[in-house]
Amino acid sequence: MANIAIFASGSGSNFEALATSFKGDKKNEVKLLICNKKNAYVIERAKNHNIKCELINYLQDGQLLVEKKVTDIIKHNKIDVIFLAGFMRVLSAKFIKDVGIPIINIHPSLLPKHKGSDAIKKAYDAGDKEIGISIHHVSEEVDGGEIILQESIPLEKEKGLDFIESEVHKLEHLYYPQIAKQICEEINSKRN
Ligand code: GRF
Repeated sequence: MANIAIFASGSGSNFEALATSFKGDKKNEVKLLICNKKNAYVIERAKNHNIKCELINYLQDGQLLVEKKVTDIIKHNKIDVIFLAGFMRVLSAKFIKDVGIPIINIHPSLLPKHKGSDAIKKAYDAGDKEIGISIHHVSEEVDGGEIILQESIPLEKEKGLDFIESEVHKLEHLYYPQIAKQICEEINSKRN
């Protein structure tokens, strides 16, 4: 059994895709959501899936204490893998080392292009001919860890930014659950 934690800060459409795909999975379970925004819609989604949510507060506690608390939560819940899904905070090298489990992120660009926020708009404004997603290991460098999968589609600028954004999100929702399952399989097979 691989126990999963998802970290998210926003609407949580990727959380939804992951939670849905693991529903009824006898070998793996999304055990908790870690969220740093008390009004984020992802919290509602977690409730609908009966997934426990741990709220963290960087403004009140500061990064060091937040990461200490999250490390304790991860260990207490025996979490095996963390998937970041629109988590708008950078995790420290110390946290990555202390939790000692794989941390995976999804980013809506063909890395190393367009790191950081507003990646889809950056690709759109730059006039890129293609656009896509990267699923990668998290390292201390933002959007800089080893890439697991990239998928791309042509960027048809005349269709408008909203359309392009929704096409990129479709790629995310298709591929993130697939890669998440593969990673959980690897964790389970190492145990057997
Ligand atoms: C996604 O585009 C993801 O790639 C990026 O943040 C966005 C989160 O969207 N890291 P959502 O909250 O999952 O809808």
